[in-house]
Amino acid sequence: MKEVKNITVLGAGAMGATIAAIAAEAGYKVTIRDVDNKFLDKGRQVITEGWDKRVKRGEITAEAKNELMGRLSFVVDTKEAVKNADMGDRGHTGDHGPEEKVAKEVSELAPDDMIYATNTSSLSITEIRCGGETPERVVGAHYFNPPAV
Ligand SMILES: NC(=O)c1ccc[n+]([C@@H]2O[C@H](COP(=O)([O-])OP(=O)(O)OC[C@H]3O[C@@H](n4cnc5c(N)ncnc54)[C@H](O)[C@@H]3O)[C@@H](O)[C@H]2O)c1
Repeated sequence: MKEVKNITVLGAGAMGATIAAIAAEAGYKVTIRDVDNKFLDKGRQVITEGWDKRVKRGEITAEAKNELMGRLSFVVDTKEAVKNADMGDRGHTGDHGPEEKVAKEVSELAPDDMIYATNTSSLSITEIRCGGETPERVVGAHYFNPPAV
């Protein structure tokens, strides 16, 4: 399996934004995809406020925060979001289609060896399967809320 360097987080909501932040803190380049720029803006705000608090507490420097921000990209287009992804981390709800369908679409647009990690709290990992061709690339990566804790 190749080394994971680029992570695409699907969904910029409560879970997705914070999953993206901790992935950036862990050194990954992170692309965040949501269905509309207004959701991406909200996710960016959540991430920025979280890091601003850490700067205030003296946990990270302002320079470190800027470096972390530089690891993040925000995109709506699914193909653009996943074209270089080593791992796709699903942190969205089912409002824009059932996860099986979204997982299949993402899987078809992503590199063949992308790992699809889902944060689902309720769906069967076995049933998601990204279309069924490479079920060994689908994993459960469940975070409790808040993911940073
Ligand atoms: N909130 C929790 O406590 C919690 C804990 C563990 C797991 N989860 C799982 O995480 C998922 C997300 O929960 P949340 O609280 O972050 O929801 P949320 O409503 O805060 O955010 C969901 C985001 O996903 C976006 N979205 C919907 N469909 C999309 C798609 N196809 N592609 C990209 N983005 C899409 C929405 O626009 C929204 O911005 C839940 O469905 C749940 O299974 C949630």
